[in-house]
Amino acid sequence: MSATVTHDPRLPEAILDFLACPTPASWVDWALDNPEILLIDHAQCEKKAASTAMSLLYRYVDDAELLTKMARLAREELLHFEQVVKLMEGRGITYRPIGAARYAEGLRRHVRGGEPHRLIDVLIVGAIIEARSCERFARLIPFLDEELAKFYRGLVKSEGRHYEDYLMLARRLAPESLDERIAFFIEREAELITMPDTAFRFHSGVPA
Ligand SMILES: [Fe+2]
Ligand SMILES: [Fe+2]
Repeated sequence: MSATVTHDPRLPEAILDFLACPTPASWVDWALDNPEILLIDHAQCEKKAASTAMSLLYRYVDDAELLTKMARLAREELLHFEQVVKLMEGRGITYRPIGAARYAEGLRRHVRGGEPHRLIDVLIVGAIIEARSCERFARLIPFLDEELAKFYRGLVKSEGRHYEDYLMLARRLAPESLDERIAFFIEREAELITMPDTAFRFHSGVPA
């Protein structure tokens, strides 16, 4: 880990331990050079996070604990979405659809078929995406204006909690064999985060 890596002190130590590597400093610079795309893509990510939680509500109707956690998570992600849209509006940024980073798809393509494997993998991927988002918000905070920094400090807290929820829901299903599966996805995630990318996104790799 580089000594120059700085982040907001609210970032939970458990998240840094969970991820294989911190966000490269070159991504942070890239984000600061692309403030509009950062917010537009951030809005997209919140919307997608809500829809992932919603799809679990439809698929696993007999799991009360999952339903309760995912219903709350979907509400919170939609609230975050609303907050980003409002912030963009205040800054005169027009919300327009932009192409997705290869990140989420790069993780989901490894999700196994058949239950409970499918659900376990989807929950692990959910935990990883929440953990990385939390880490990226914390990495950006020291460089942001006060309005955005304040918003992102709140998100470090809620996305950190989402990471814990996803992990808890996954562990419940496979208390003994989960570590190996987590390690597999964590490795894929580190590859995606450190690989060169042509376009900046919230979950992109480093500038090519
Ligand atoms: Fe969120
Ligand atoms: Fe989240």
